[in-house]
Amino acid sequence: MLSTGELDRLRTAFPGRPIDYYPAIDSTMHAAARLEPGAVVIAGEQTAGLGRHGHSWHSEPGTGLYFSMVLRPHPVLTLALGLATVEAIGNVTGIACDLRWPNDVMLGGKKAAGILVQLVEGKAIAGIGINLNHTQLPPDLDATSLKIYSGQDVPAADLLISLLHSIDSFVAEDKETILRLFAHASSYAAGRRVRVTLPEGAIEGTTAGLDADGYLIVRQDDGTDTLILAGGVRAARS
Ligand code: BTN
Repeated sequence: MLSTGELDRLRTAFPGRPIDYYPAIDSTMHAAARLEPGAVVIAGEQTAGLGRHGHSWHSEPGTGLYFSMVLRPHPVLTLALGLATVEAIGNVTGIACDLRWPNDVMLGGKKAAGILVQLVEGKAIAGIGINLNHTQLPPDLDATSLKIYSGQDVPAADLLISLLHSIDSFVAEDKETILRLFAHASSYAAGRRVRVTLPEGAIEGTTAGLDADGYLIVRQDDGTDTLILAGGVRAARS
């Protein structure tokens, strides 16, 4: 939930950028889809928050940051947004997050933020949800919050301002730079034992880097490489 003063601060930091705030909305993704590149839609609460792969996103009032931003398409946008989120969290809180390919923001092996990108009429709608100040989350989510992880309260407006700056700077980078930065930032990019759920069944193997388009290569124990196109990656139980 952002106060009027915090919204003023945000709009002052980004003059000329339309920034809409809804105390409650179904999903910021729907509202943003009607807007032009540069626009930002923030919600205090989402009644039907959308996650990846048809999941919902837990969007209770007051504790989380939920927003969507309209961007121009970028070849590895989803990876760039993960990098931006990790950078902004680090800058504002000092907390170092991991990235689980393609863009789950992880803390202590649990998910603390999620990113959803939808292409609508030539625009990229980037939705980011960050668990900030929750003191508990539904146990079936296997999720955490910055507060649960670190004990500190995180100021939503400060984080959002930092994150919008980080997004602007990462989406200005080319594909090769984003791939290099991601490989450096994510413990999942290479050498990580993972289990991946695919439509044709689960596979287990060790990650072996990203290909030139940003897809994850998983090497099974028989030497077969599988290109993972769409997530479903989990750390394998040892
Ligand atoms: C994921 O499943 O990891 C992606 C979660 C994305 C959640 C954010 S919250 C703001 C925006 N609005 C939505 O309905 N979803 C995204």
